[in-house]
Amino acid sequence: MRLLIDDAQIDRIKELYEYYPVDGVTTNPTILAKQGKAPYEALRQIRRFVGEAGQLHVQAVSRQAEGMVREACRIVEELGENTYVKIPSVKEGFKAMRELRRRGILVTATAIYSPMQAFLAAKCGASFAAPYINRIDNMGYDGIGAAKEIHDIFKNNGLETQVLAASFKNSMQVLELCRHGIGAATVAPDVMEGLAKNQAVTTAVEDFIRDFEDLAGAGKDMGTC
Ligand code: E4P
Repeated sequence: MRLLIDDAQIDRIKELYEYYPVDGVTTNPTILAKQGKAPYEALRQIRRFVGEAGQLHVQAVSRQAEGMVREACRIVEELGENTYVKIPSVKEGFKAMRELRRRGILVTATAIYSPMQAFLAAKCGASFAAPYINRIDNMGYDGIGAAKEIHDIFKNNGLETQVLAASFKNSMQVLELCRHGIGAATVAPDVMEGLAKNQAVTTAVEDFIRDFEDLAGAGKDMGTC
């Protein structure tokens, strides 16, 4: 499962990249609005940092397919290789996805609240389909169940599209989808930090350090004892 950061704060992205095995960055218009920078200024900064190897997902905001396609061309022109244009999985979006596939532009189908949206997006040529786990839960449905079902629908129908699960509230949800072998998950920085945070682990590590210092002296380690 690929692991991406759902954020646009460059300092947070740099910090998370330093510590965790991150595969890329996803953004949406709300995330960009929080930065208060011009959209392409923030996005170019992220692209420069993640390099061509890092995935960058950027959303189009037009209501009509023609506008989505026009935006997608500008997005890939500005941000280059390995940039996925996020297209909402609505009627106009499906039309845009098919045209973008024809033009060889990579698409992440977004705003997915139901498995059928994901199936249609996959048939339209999207590389990824992004179900919104937390938002589906908040509607009284099962977000994790929907993401698993979408993964199974893709496999059972021979579709190459991968699930890029989004909108998480905790690390258990990420683990559950990791077990199921979904393609990717994008998580906010606080959820990323929570993936392996555990007081029992911290205590165990601190106990080892204390025992070693009792043996070898305060401040000593295996390089200095
Ligand atoms: C991903 O495609 C979405 O833009 C994002 O993950 C939504 O997350 P939220 O529900 O926390 O806003």
